[in-house]
Order: sequence, then structure tokens, then C-alpha cells
Amino acid sequence: MEDHGIVTLDPQGRVASWTAEAGRIGGWSAAEIVGRPFSVFYPPDDVAAGKPGRELAIAAERGRFADEGWRVRKDGSRFWAEVEITALFDGQQRLLGFGKVTRDMTKRRDAEEALRLSEERFRLLVHSVQDYGIFMLDPGGRISSWNAGAERIKGWTADEAIGQHFSMFYPPEDVAAGKPDWELEVAAEQGRLEDEGWRVRKDGSRFWANVVITALFDDRHRLQGFGKVTRDMTERRNAEQALRERRRLVGHLVDAQEVERRRIAWDVHDESIQSMVAVGMRLQLLASRLPEPHASAVAGLDESVQAAIGRLRGLVSRLRPPELDRHGLVEAVSGYVDEVAGRWGLEHSVHDELTAEPSPEAAITVYRICQEALSNVHKHARATRVDVRMSTVDNGTLVRITDDGVGTASDDAGAGHFGLVEMHERAEAAHGWLSVTSTPGQGTVVEFWLPMLPDLTGLEP
Ligand SMILES: Nc1ncnc2c1ncn2[C@@H]1O[C@H](COP(=O)(O)OP(=O)(O)OP(=O)(O)O)[C@@H](O)[C@H]1O
Ligand SMILES: [Mg+2]
Repeated sequence: MEDHGIVTLDPQGRVASWTAEAGRIGGWSAAEIVGRPFSVFYPPDDVAAGKPGRELAIAAERGRFADEGWRVRKDGSRFWAEVEITALFDGQQRLLGFGKVTRDMTKRRDAEEALRLSEERFRLLVHSVQDYGIFMLDPGGRISSWNAGAERIKGWTADEAIGQHFSMFYPPEDVAAGKPDWELEVAAEQGRLEDEGWRVRKDGSRFWANVVITALFDDRHRLQGFGKVTRDMTERRNAEQALRERRRLVGHLVDAQEVERRRIAWDVHDESIQSMVAVGMRLQLLASRLPEPHASAVAGLDESVQAAIGRLRGLVSRLRPPELDRHGLVEAVSGYVDEVAGRWGLEHSVHDELTAEPSPEAAITVYRICQEALSNVHKHARATRVDVRMSTVDNGTLVRITDDGVGTASDDAGAGHFGLVEMHERAEAAHGWLSVTSTPGQGTVVEFWLPMLPDLTGLEP
């Protein structure tokens, strides 16, 4: 027995024999200790109180005495010991002496103390956590512990809550539907249940809660109760709703803007341009009938009109890219990039890796974002080339516009700069994302992704 010191005592309590292990625990050698009263193992106050003698008397009377307490080593240091004294009798029931087994429990006691302290600290931690309501339920659903977070979130104090049934946190309709009991059943069956829904505070107000119920079993798998962690998600929910609402509004605005642009494009195309074409034809006719120098003057007027028609056609195609309807996204973007990059003297390329054509709404968004990104390259980048790459990724359209310019794009350029903000908003309104990465001296990458179908997850039921 490794840490058991075994000693025999004579009937008067003097040490009769002594094992090496006892020596290791107490620090005595056999020569030093044999013959001395065993009370030297006890702290002075125990000796003064007559404890050693009393223990022997009990052992002699009952055959056995067990104790746990402080004992002393030869050097005076104390250790926590488990002691068992057994009386030894001969065949005629005469007391021969005692066997004494001493076990040094200091390590175990330290470990137990450390465990107790750590459990205490853990309990304090749980108790004082503010952001999470953490409490325990007995197997029947009655509250058996309550922390500061639970009080903060739900409004009941520990005194008010402990002993109550946890169904008091649920709205009446949930209680009527048996939801609280059902949740415990599921948790007991599956070990854990997570739920998100309305809960009720002490003052009757409701909050949106995320709740996790964990079943607690002992080592023989008997249900001991439940741990419940509740988080108040009201703010998060409000923020999410606000974001959804904002996207919806931006989506509406973007749609309205497209409709309006299309209308203007049609008006300009069908009316202004047609009338000017008619004016041009008249001027040409007139010029052919007039003598010089009037003929040249009128021909000059006609040139101005033709130039204005050209500009108006450009305006129409920017307002409502006609290729988008007729030839699809890639044609439209390529046409646009060829035209503007050519005009601005930029090398350029458009890579088409699309395996699916985006919806008309997504196509318009892609086109508009490309327009703004290219106009930024022209206005700010001082680049020599620009590349556009379109691909089908994750059930959506991924577009990357790369320039080799100064790389100074910034999302917070301040008042009066709407381009990047609008690009972000368009992408988000289409339930996608957009990122702008600028590396000074190396250029800018605008990348965005739009889903094929608007993502309906997370929308209100
Ligand atoms: N490709 C780019 N290369 C370098 N700088 C850029 C690039 N794109 C944008 N920037 C910088 O980021 C700023 C913000 O761009 P944004 O498009 O938001 O505004 P803007 O072009 O200045 O004005 P607006 O687009 O409203 O006419 C620009 O002023 C410019 O300094
Ligand atoms: Mg811009």
C-alpha cells in the first residue's frame, strides 16, 4: 500500500513497530520512534485535549476507530491524515495492542480544495454573467437556480423565480399549446433543444429570445434536471429587420430609377431624336435648294443637329442599354466596355465565363455597377488597362473589374461621392455583396456577386 503508513502500538499506546512507509509519511526512523507514545503524531492542542488516549479507548472498546484530521510530522509540519486504529486481541480477549494505518490525504485534500474553489469560481461566474440568462430547472421544470443575467433579461429576482415553473416565461398562447413541456420532453430525449421565439418579462412585455435547453443526467443516466441559457435577441432582431427594410426600400428605389430611366430613354428616342432627324432632313433639303453662302450655313446647322443626335443616341444607350434586352448581358457589357474604354484610350478585355444567364433584374444591376466602376476608372484611376470577368459561381453571377491604376478607391470618400455607395446598395438590394479592394500604386478590384434568384431565407414568414 503505497501511501499507507502502518504502525503497531502496545496496549499503552507506545509505538511497537514502524514500516518504512510510515517513516516516509512521518519523517521518523524506526530507531527514533519505537517506544515513544503515539501522541507525538498529534498536534499539541489535540494532545492537550486528550484525543490520542480517547481514540485508543474507543478502539479498545469497539474494536475499531476511524478519524480524519491533522497530524504532525517529525519536523513539526502538519498533514491531513485518514487514520484507522484497530484493537488487537489474543485468544482470551486480552488486549495485545493496536494496529494503526495512516494515510496522507494532503494531496487529495488539496485537490478537493482546488476543485471546490474552481467550482465556486465557476458558480460565481455563472451567477454574475449579465448577457446570458443562465438557470437550472428540476426534472419537472421548476426553477432551481437563477443568475444575474436572468434577472436582468427577465426582470424576476432569484427569490421570485426559484421554485416557480418555467412556463411563466412563455406567452399564454405557447403555454396553452403546451410548448414549455414539449420543449423539456424534446430536450430530455435528444439531450438539447434550441429555440428562438417570444418570451415574456415580469412586467408582461415581450422580448425575442434565443433559448438553449440542455438535459442534465447523472452518471447512471438518470435525468437530474435542465440547464437553460436564454439570450435577449430583440436588438439583433430589430437591426436585422431594419436592414431588411432598408434593402427593400433601396430595391424599390433602384427599380423606380430603372423604370424612370427607361421612360426617359424611350421619350428621347421616340420623340426628341425623331424630331431632330426630321429637322436634319429638312435642313439637308433646304441646303440643296439654297444658293451659297446660305447653303454652307445651313449645311453647318445640319452638322450640329447630326452631332446632337449622336449625343442623344449615346444618352439613350446609357439610360437603357438596348443590347441587354436583345443580346444578353455579356454583349451589352462588352459593347459598353469597348465603346468607353476605346474612347478613353484604355486597353481592355471582357471575359465571359458565365454558364447561366442571370435574371433580367440581376443583369441590369451588373450593367449599372459596371458602368459606375468603369466611370470611376476613367475619372480617378489613371490606369492603362481595365479587365472585366464574369462567371457563374455559387448559383449566382460573380463579376470582377480590375484596373492597374493608382489604387485609391475608398468607401468613405465623403459627401458628394455616391458611386461606391450606390454600387454597394445595388448589390445588397439584389441580395448579393460587393467589395472594393484598392492597393496603392497597383490598382483597384471591384468584385461583386448577385444570386440567380433573390435569397428568400431570412425573410419574414
Ligand atoms: N478605380 C479607382 N481607382 C482609384 N480611385 C478610385 C477608383 N474608384 C474610386 N476611387 C476613389 O474613391 C472615391 C469614391 O468613389 P465614388 O465613385 O464613390 O465617388 P466619385 O466617383 O468621386 O463621385 P460620384 O461617383 O458620386 O460621381 C473617388 O473619389 C476616388 O477618389
Ligand atoms: Mg464614381
